[in-house]
Parts: sequence; structure tokens; C-alpha cells
Amino acid sequence: MKTIILFYSRSRKTALVSKTLAEEINADLVEIVDLTERKGPLNYLKASVDAFRENKTIIKPETVDLSNYDLVYLGSPTWASKPAPAMITLIDQCDFKGKDVILFATMGSSGGQKVIDRMKEKIEPRGGRMIKSFQVKTGGKKIEELMHDAKKIIQEEDLHIYGI
Ligand SMILES: Cc1cc2nc3c(=O)[nH]c(=O)nc-3n(C[C@H](O)[C@H](O)[C@H](O)COP(=O)(O)O)c2cc1C
Repeated sequence: MKTIILFYSRSRKTALVSKTLAEEINADLVEIVDLTERKGPLNYLKASVDAFRENKTIIKPETVDLSNYDLVYLGSPTWASKPAPAMITLIDQCDFKGKDVILFATMGSSGGQKVIDRMKEKIEPRGGRMIKSFQVKTGGKKIEELMHDAKKIIQEEDLHIYGI
């Protein structure tokens, strides 16, 4: 089963989880870059508003051809209990017809389930079927701890069996 992980990450936590996952389950990995400046305290507020309102942004790559993949992971940080705008934009620009999808959200402390619910709502009309989801709490965690948590989730959720 050919697997791809698509993720957006502002402060590299979702990136670390995604990279750990890709190595463990032998999946391709594609980072979605948001061309809107998201760094700095002022942009933090704008980022929350953009996420809350589901404002679109400009992303690179604009879309990803999923035709060669059977399974697609989508990973987003939690922003104001919503997926990051880059992920919302990506979903609307991809064709998920016939694809199994595993959704995951990283979060400081809470709101990850809402992110997953919203991503699920958005992939379904585009032909995707969520087969699993998970959340990773990142608040106050060091890199090693986060990698450990990601590996634990892979075991607990039996994610290896989907990659074969
Ligand atoms: C604009 C913004 C809004 C956020 N909103 C939430 C939130 O509602 N709940 C939460 O638990 N964490 C929130 N966070 C924290 C991130 O979800 C968390 O740190 C995440 O793991 C960061 O992922 P990243 O490093 O891949 O960008 C927010 C972070 C940002 C930048």
C-alpha cells in the first residue's frame, strides 16, 4: 500500500511527528508551505483569525497528485480549534476520490478533535474516507519526548498495518 503524508507545520512540531511517522511506516512525505508570513506575535493573532474564519491562503505546492497513493495522511496543527489555513486550502485543492485517509492534529493542549472533525467534513465531499485519526499534545514537550509520543501512537494505533 503506497502511503503519503501531507503536513503543514509553523513551529516544526507537526513536522517532527510527520517525519517520525514517515520513517516508521515507510511513507512519502510532503510539506505544505504557507506563503503568508506566520511568524511573530502580530501574525499569531492574524493566524488565529484566519484559521477561525477558514480564510484561504496561498500554499506551495498548490496541490498534490494523489493518484499513485492508496493511503493519505493529513497532519495539521490546531489553530483556534481549527485546522491551519494551509491545510484547509490544501484539502480544497486535492482530489481524494477513493482514498483512505488518516487525519492527525497536533495541539498545545486542546482542540485537536475539532480539527480532525473539520478535516473529516472537508475530505468527504472530495471523495476521501477517514479510516483513523489521532492527536498529539505538544505543549511543553521536548523533541525527544515528542518523537517518543509519535512512536507510541504508531504502536497503539497499529499504524504499521496500514503501510503494508
Ligand atoms: C495561531 C495559533 C493558534 C493556536 N491555537 C491553539 C488552540 O486552539 N489549541 C491548542 O491546544 N493549541 C493551539 N496552538 C498551539 C499549536 O497547535 C501547537 O503548538 C502545535 O503543535 C504547533 O504545531 P507546529 O509546530 O507544527 O506549527 C496554536 C498555535 C498557533 C500558532
